[in-house]
Amino acid sequence: MPEEHRAACVVGYPIAHSRSPMLHGYWIDRYGLDAAYRAEEVRPEDFAAFLANLSARGYVGANVTIPHKDAAFRLSEPDQRARAVGAANTLWFEGGLLRSTNTDVEGFTASLDAAAPNWDKRTHEAVVLGAGGAGRAVVYGLIERGVECIHLVNRTRAKAEAIAASFGLAVRPADWRDLPRLLDGGALLVNATSLGMSHAGQLDIDLSGLADDAVVADIVYVPLTTSLLAQARRRGLATANGLDMLLHQAVRGFELWFGRKPEVTQELYDLLAADIEGAPA
Ligand code: ATR
Repeated sequence: MPEEHRAACVVGYPIAHSRSPMLHGYWIDRYGLDAAYRAEEVRPEDFAAFLANLSARGYVGANVTIPHKDAAFRLSEPDQRARAVGAANTLWFEGGLLRSTNTDVEGFTASLDAAAPNWDKRTHEAVVLGAGGAGRAVVYGLIERGVECIHLVNRTRAKAEAIAASFGLAVRPADWRDLPRLLDGGALLVNATSLGMSHAGQLDIDLSGLADDAVVADIVYVPLTTSLLAQARRRGLATANGLDMLLHQAVRGFELWFGRKPEVTQELYDLLAADIEGAPA
């Protein structure tokens, strides 16, 4: 193996559905790097041993996906974002230490930056649907970017209250029935629930009350255009989808492992979009 050869992987169980190898493989080819990015299927009971041997296996770092994000957090030195979310999805070595972060946070905010530059300058309040792991990353990203008030709507109110308890007064737990009032004149709506995914229930929300320059984001990427995003586009609002977030969350790992900050381009989006749309439902 030549000196400069570097390899990283995505670790999950199962892993066949992951788009990360296609995404990182595209960048490796595009920049002509002597690098590799592989998928590793690792059972939960084998994950700790896999991580302990990550370097010995020839890896300079890894992405981690379901069901290993919590274990990756516990078995590494997390940064502030990973600590805030309580889960890690990107690992790398630094001075012999295995460090970790959660790039869903910046993946989400970078997708908003791409869809609606300067969104944060005009967004003082936001409405976030969903208080699971994705909702936590979204809420933390909004707080990082200075959003002062985040109405967090969740079916199970206790989960929204737990996020409010750890993130402070900016987070206001709310219920679905509060939505019409919360969306009136609203600047930003984010769906961080699984509603809208193929085979899941649909989101049926009236967006007519949102401000004319509002932004609507959806973490779902199968389908690429959920009914929520279709409605937002019909109103002429800026939108970001789950694929935008997936592409942007991958940038940091690639840069950490391979030393080059990759670009999220329309060509890359189209490649992944065609793969998602062509996959069996
Ligand atoms: P993730 O880590 O991707 O966020 P999760 O932790 O399972 O996944 O969270 C899924 C989110 O979708 C939660 O906010 C969940 O609401 P609950 O916390 O009440 O379970 C939300 N969700 C899923 N199905 C839903 C449904 N039919 N109606 C309302 N909310 C739903």
